[in-house]
Amino acid sequence: MGLFSLRILFFISFFCLKPSIYALNSVKNPQEITVVGTGYVGLVLGTCLAEIGHKVTCCDVDFQKISSLQQGQIPIYEIGLEELVKKNFAQNRLFFTTSLENAVRESNVIFITVGTPETLSGEANLEYVFAVAKMIGENLRTFKTVFVKSTVPMGTVLKIKEVIGEHNTAKTPFSIGYAPEFLREGSSVHDFMHPDRVVIGAEDPQTSQLFTEIVQPILDDGAKICTTSIASAEMIKYASNSFLAVKISFINEIANFCEEIGADVEEVALGIGLDKRIGQSFLKPGPGYGGSCFPKDTLAFLKTAQKNGVDLSIIEAAVGSNNRRCDKILLRLESALGSLEGKKIALLGLAFKELTDDVRESPSLKMIEKLQEKKAFVTSFDPIASTNALKFFPNLAIASTLYEVFRECDAIVVATPWSLFTQIDWKKVKEVSKASVVFDTRNILDRKEIEQAGFFYIGIGKRG
Ligand code: UDX
Ligand code: UDX
Repeated sequence: MGLFSLRILFFISFFCLKPSIYALNSVKNPQEITVVGTGYVGLVLGTCLAEIGHKVTCCDVDFQKISSLQQGQIPIYEIGLEELVKKNFAQNRLFFTTSLENAVRESNVIFITVGTPETLSGEANLEYVFAVAKMIGENLRTFKTVFVKSTVPMGTVLKIKEVIGEHNTAKTPFSIGYAPEFLREGSSVHDFMHPDRVVIGAEDPQTSQLFTEIVQPILDDGAKICTTSIASAEMIKYASNSFLAVKISFINEIANFCEEIGADVEEVALGIGLDKRIGQSFLKPGPGYGGSCFPKDTLAFLKTAQKNGVDLSIIEAAVGSNNRRCDKILLRLESALGSLEGKKIALLGLAFKELTDDVRESPSLKMIEKLQEKKAFVTSFDPIASTNALKFFPNLAIASTLYEVFRECDAIVVATPWSLFTQIDWKKVKEVSKASVVFDTRNILDRKEIEQAGFFYIGIGKRG
């Protein structure tokens, strides 16, 4: 049932998104573009730029990744991406290479999308963006425009400009801009084609004009363009992610309060979100925010603010609240189950959210770590993220089918809101499992159905 449901989910999602993706016009003046860093962001960016008509070369230091892509194998799960990669590759608009030198020389526009992972102290690691800047400088022979897309702390884009300049011994003129990325994993192709806004920070009008022309089909489709200074664009990226993180921590704390006084956080979120000034989105309570951006970007934002002598106490509180989230969840599980020592927990979902195989900073992985500290035994199931989770927990027990995970467990915890989990037949689960408790940390299940099947249901921000 697992795989079957996943396929249905894939086809529904893909075909719902597909028509609007293909509705975009092609760009009037196609550019020769190099995208450096073919990760989650770079691959989607490069593919979508090719889809709107540009000639794009995606470049990466990872030889295996590039050779797989050349054979049409996509290294990540992202709805709609595989078809676009294959189509644009076949139509000679999308290329893959490990040769940054050639890719730089043959393009007139370069996007930097290498990662900026967190260092041990919480700052953004800029070694990769600077390494790319050095290579660009060394290979500048004709005028080029460099757009930085990697999330970087305020002031970094001008440092990248300096590094390019230092290695540009040929003294070839170039320009630089910052174009922050707002794609959400799981819907990033759709988000690229239909964003609310596109932000471009530049020092001169020609650079922002070039960017506007590159994404014109997206603007024609209704996206707003926000042209700013480089410093403002850098700030917009961190402030946007931090604001959303604050919203999530806010609703999680309201959920804690609801649990104490018998209110229902979903009714509360609806009631407050219907006020247009607040809005409905990002008010889903859960096990805390994860992923490759919010945890890393909020920390880097705090570090940069600290260096500049600025107090970001609201964001600091949101980060602290998110860090405590997993303990709060396990405390609730303990209050229903007693000591977790020796207990068998069926953990549903490993990805940091639905529709992705990404487990970076996933709340599920934090739960596994804490459950193991408490000497509980975890068996997990995820439709697509198990392979990535095994890189962090090589000995993690993974059930081969959804119903397999329930065997012999004492409690069931839903950690990722995969729609597949909403189709579980709880009466059937009762037959194969001795579990008494179902903890729905994403509030996606039907409480009545679970109680009728004989389980004790716990949701977030509601009693019981
Ligand atoms: C992106 C952004 O670039 C990052 O700044 C943002 O905060 C999150 O999204 P992402 O695409 O998720 O990062 O990163 P990842 O999937 O790790 O991909 C980075 C790619 O860059 C990898 O494929 C890596 O091999 C490549 N890389 C890294 C290079 O090609 N050159 C380098 O020097 C370093
Ligand atoms: C985020 C930003 O949304 C995107 O603009 C930026 O480019 C990258 O970071 P992403 O990390 O892919 O995107 O996922 P997102 O949908 O924002 O979710 C992040 C985390 O917050 C997930 O763990 C998700 O489950 C959680 N979340 C989100 C909640 O707990 N409640 C919500 O209401 C929304």
